[in-house]
Amino acid sequence: MNTKPVTLSTLAALKQGGERIVALTCYDASFCRLLEEAGVHVLLVGDSLGMVIQGQDTTVPVTLDDMVYHSACVARARRQALILVDMPFLTYATPDLALASAGRLMREGGAQMVKLEGGAPFVETVRRLTANGVPVCAHLGLLPQSIHRLGGYRYQGRDRASALAMLEDAVALQDAGAGLLVLECVPAELAREIACALRIPVIGIGAGNGCDGQVLVLHDLLGLNPRGAPRFSKDFLTGRGSLGAAVAAYAEAVRSGDFPGPEQTAY
Ligand code: KIV
Repeated sequence: MNTKPVTLSTLAALKQGGERIVALTCYDASFCRLLEEAGVHVLLVGDSLGMVIQGQDTTVPVTLDDMVYHSACVARARRQALILVDMPFLTYATPDLALASAGRLMREGGAQMVKLEGGAPFVETVRRLTANGVPVCAHLGLLPQSIHRLGGYRYQGRDRASALAMLEDAVALQDAGAGLLVLECVPAELAREIACALRIPVIGIGAGNGCDGQVLVLHDLLGLNPRGAPRFSKDFLTGRGSLGAAVAAYAEAVRSGDFPGPEQTAY
């Protein structure tokens, strides 16, 4: 097992070297150990915890206190993977609010990078955060915190105008200082185009295998999501017999480029 801490430079070097980045959501210390054992590079303390841990219908009710608590649980066990933590709904609505929220996630939660959902309206916030030493991961495509505006969990960027807008947003967020981008539920061709256009690594979820890395919700790959896993996910536990073997199989499938395959991809 490689014990060198994963930094943003590590992730950038993986992109440059054509090696895929393995990311997974993680909400507690026990899974942190298991995921690191499998060589996962990025532990995403996602606000998906609202749905898979708290039993909420959406990520909207998740609070900053919830995120600080789960991030601190992961941070206590973390040895080398990078801890990326979601800023929850409306905790980054202004640059000042975003700074205060990120401060708590980093100081109290041990976050090493924070993630926010949205494009052009958040460019200024990304600039303020990064200017103040906060590493930022942007998130485009399907934005789960906007579910009540969107009206459903659907693929984004399907027509040329919205695809171009997403590409422009991605470049603007990168130029404002974002060090990583997550693309969720984006047609494979568009995701590949964005990953090629950017210097920073792009991590896909439901975005085909042309991205620089992949992330999944841990409970989906373990077949534990009470709502059933989305089509772009895959149950890696069935037939493997242990949680460790399932996570290791996912990590290997991402590294080899076998996951996501055509059956998990929208074109
Ligand atoms: O909260 C989360 O788990 C996420 C992933 C879906 C990328 O943001």
